[in-house]
Amino acid sequence: MCGIVGYIGRMRSDEILLKNLKKLEYRGYDSSGIAVLKNNEIIVRKESGCIANLEKTVEEIYGSCGIAHTRWATHGKPTKENAHPHTSSDNEWAIVHNGIIENYGELKEDLISKNISFSSETDSEVVAQLLSVEKNENLMERVIDVCGKLVGSYALICVNKNTPNTLYLAKQKSPLYVGIKSGEVFVGSDPICLSGMVDNYYSLEDGEFCQASSEKLVFFDSYKNIINKASVKLENINYNSGLGDYPHYMLKEIEEVPSVLRRVVDVYKQSNILDKIDISNVNKIIIVGCGTAYHAGLMGSKYIERLVRIDCSCHVASEFRYSDPIIDDKTLAIFVSQSGETADTISALDLAKSKGAKIVALTNVLYSTVAKKSDIILPVCAGPEIAVASTKAYSAQITVFYMLAKCLQNKVFSKNVDYFGEVEKLSDALKQIDFEDVRELSKVLVDKKEAFFIGRNRDYVTSEEASLKLKEITYINSSAYPAGELKHGFLALIENDTYVFMIATEKDLLEKTLNGAFESMARGGKIFAFSQFDLKKYESENFKYIKMPNLNEEVMPILSISYFQMLSYLTSIAKGLNPDKPRNLAKSVTVE
Ligand code: M6R
Repeated sequence: MCGIVGYIGRMRSDEILLKNLKKLEYRGYDSSGIAVLKNNEIIVRKESGCIANLEKTVEEIYGSCGIAHTRWATHGKPTKENAHPHTSSDNEWAIVHNGIIENYGELKEDLISKNISFSSETDSEVVAQLLSVEKNENLMERVIDVCGKLVGSYALICVNKNTPNTLYLAKQKSPLYVGIKSGEVFVGSDPICLSGMVDNYYSLEDGEFCQASSEKLVFFDSYKNIINKASVKLENINYNSGLGDYPHYMLKEIEEVPSVLRRVVDVYKQSNILDKIDISNVNKIIIVGCGTAYHAGLMGSKYIERLVRIDCSCHVASEFRYSDPIIDDKTLAIFVSQSGETADTISALDLAKSKGAKIVALTNVLYSTVAKKSDIILPVCAGPEIAVASTKAYSAQITVFYMLAKCLQNKVFSKNVDYFGEVEKLSDALKQIDFEDVRELSKVLVDKKEAFFIGRNRDYVTSEEASLKLKEITYINSSAYPAGELKHGFLALIENDTYVFMIATEKDLLEKTLNGAFESMARGGKIFAFSQFDLKKYESENFKYIKMPNLNEEVMPILSISYFQMLSYLTSIAKGLNPDKPRNLAKSVTVE
């Protein structure tokens, strides 16, 4: 994971680098660091923890150019020593790296045998050391030579103390963008770092390199040939508009859901994007994603199979890519990713593409790698999502899936059912919910070590997502079970006062789901039943009922997840945690 930035120009490089680095904190916040070239010296500052810690310790260091890094630890603890930038032992080179050098072990052994000593436990440091050991006098070529020895993924920005006006860039499987305007160069892992600074930018492809100076950008292939690259107009890049009066992004993003749903409806009403999805020659649909995006895909598969009557399955990207899946040109493959940069999802997409599948991206970031590699893009329209825990993007993703399934159902069965109206009603209903019950519930949940979620069919998918949200930001050990599976193991976990959240929004399955709840209650479990159906008659000391608004059953999952997003948020706050930055996690998982 990690985010990297670079800058050449007349402005204070420390300020520019830190400002842009903060935009990348979603990629990791284990440590951060900065290196600036000044009077033919490389000045480095690093700190463990988030960028605010680095900011406190960085006094004015401005030279003609610099690099900076925010880290999500892969190799070595999140300490100051392991923070980037890494320098070569002779202090000639400094580098920042995003990715994983898979063969760093053997490279390191070889360098140690040449009396090079290492000062970190990271895989990345080998790059800095190799750069000083290699002999090529042409420094860009030297970077290309070193990259020829690396196996794995990398976006690299390198500086050499003797070329104070130059950044050397390399890209393999991790994103890297560069732009130049009026003698200033901006580099970053995400074009948001270039936003407002340049009008056009260049997106490096795998195996491409760039020698960037304030005069020009020169691009190379891995054979050291100069290549011409087309620039991309910098547009559609939304960066977060700040917290406003909110204490946390997560709360802001949950509260944005009603307006996001309106936007989704407006965008899809005004365009014919859904109509572009042609399944006349398709015999199966597969959906792939990770984490919350996987859960959105699971919900999507429930909608599509039920409404369109076509074989549709959903897969975790990291499993899918190694499972030798049966895919051909009659497969429609939908890749779900908020960021569009999740490494496993991208590899799964490449695999499906290589087997001839038609590729659809369901993503929130229209310039992302997943979007670029797809035949059709279904925009999520959630706006920038900053909190690590995905909330509004999930709600928007399942809304798009609902609309897609309804649109395909209309096509396949020659119907003309309106579905936009249902989402609009849902958006209005969501605005009215005060979440008072949930606030009360969070006060008791705060002391719990574990919690369970049960539901059937779509409510089981909501249970999975609710459980992920809770564990992610409260660290309460939670799991989800299909409500019909309880007797097959789950009940062994029930003790006096074990919390079980029951979700029941499908009328046909209500009685069956309730049976599971009662079986848990009979063994001491405390049930919190979330439903739009009237369950008042069951209320007791151990059966609490949280009534949800009564809407069309099909859209209830979009509504019900809001309760659990809010419950997780309030519980996290009650525990004194930072819901926006849960420990050990990052917003965008750009390494395998
Ligand atoms: O950007 P993506 O949607 O591809 O991210 C996938 C997961 O990393 C992400 O959903 C993760 O599970 C969230 N932190 C969950 O809240």
